[in-house]
Amino acid sequence: MSTPHRPPVEARVYVPAPGETCDVELMPAGDVTEGVVRVGGTIRRPHQSQSLAVAAYLDWLEDAGFDGSPRFLGRDAQGRDVLTFLPGACAGAEPESWVQSEELLASVGRLVRRLHGASAGFVPDAHPFPDRPFPVPDSGATASAAADGPVLVCHLDVTPQNVVVRDGLALGLVDFDLAGPATALRDSYNAAMHWVPLRAPEDVWPGWADTDPFRRLRIFADAYGWTPEERRRVPALGIEAAELSYGRMQERARTLGGGWARMWDEGVGGLILRRRDWLEANAGRLLEALSG
Ligand SMILES: Nc1ncnc2c1ncn2[C@@H]1O[C@H](COP(=O)(O)OP(=O)(O)O)[C@@H](O)[C@H]1O
Ligand SMILES: [Mg+2]
Repeated sequence: MSTPHRPPVEARVYVPAPGETCDVELMPAGDVTEGVVRVGGTIRRPHQSQSLAVAAYLDWLEDAGFDGSPRFLGRDAQGRDVLTFLPGACAGAEPESWVQSEELLASVGRLVRRLHGASAGFVPDAHPFPDRPFPVPDSGATASAAADGPVLVCHLDVTPQNVVVRDGLALGLVDFDLAGPATALRDSYNAAMHWVPLRAPEDVWPGWADTDPFRRLRIFADAYGWTPEERRRVPALGIEAAELSYGRMQERARTLGGGWARMWDEGVGGLILRRRDWLEANAGRLLEALSG
């Protein structure tokens, strides 16, 4: 529902306040989007095919009282999407040692849980999320996804680089480019995978070799609040997600090019397959950590 001060997303035009700064600060490059900049209290991002669907979702979250996502302010004179800047720190491409904090990890679980509570009931109407280039597990496209619970629009890319941290706690989520219909379990598993992280030992980031993925997964599970049944599903779901993700990344690299092709050339496919093998080899230990 739009309010008088908030035109429909497709007609929303960002009008800078008089005297607003024009200073442009380049944001740390993420994996995919070129040209994300900060201008004063705003972030400017290139307009993309999913932008209006994302904008409608961000409106919904605002109306639901969720304070952990940017607001969509409209498009600027250059046609870019304008979003509110969320103050705080985000991890770099190789997450720094402060990102290892267990308190931070637990706060990520709580933040994702709050996101899911606020997302319940959102149904994209005027602006559906664009078709994905490849069937995604998150879209409920597989038989086992149906067992994960009702479809829920959620973030689907809760990486350390996309979480805003203040005073050691996760308070914001940015970069809703992959948001779309999924299930709460798929999105929370994906967040855990990125934050634990669930990776083969040879792929963990520099300085992270001493972290304990089993202990960290349990911290996330308790903070998010996975049920016993959800905990039992996690290892198999992770293996399935890795397999689907491999095909999806390959397809995106082929059809979309850009950052997707670069990630593929840099070997993300191998990383995903090594994750799958690690999950398979450690399924028993993961179950034990989650339920013990
Ligand atoms: N609304 C925002 N508030 C604060 N920082 C942001 C915001 N949007 C993006 N950033 C910063 O810019 C970086 C890159 O932007 P992001 O939207 O994640 O692009 P990419 O698709 O390339 O990952 C983020 O990792 C974060 O550090
Ligand atoms: Mg990002």
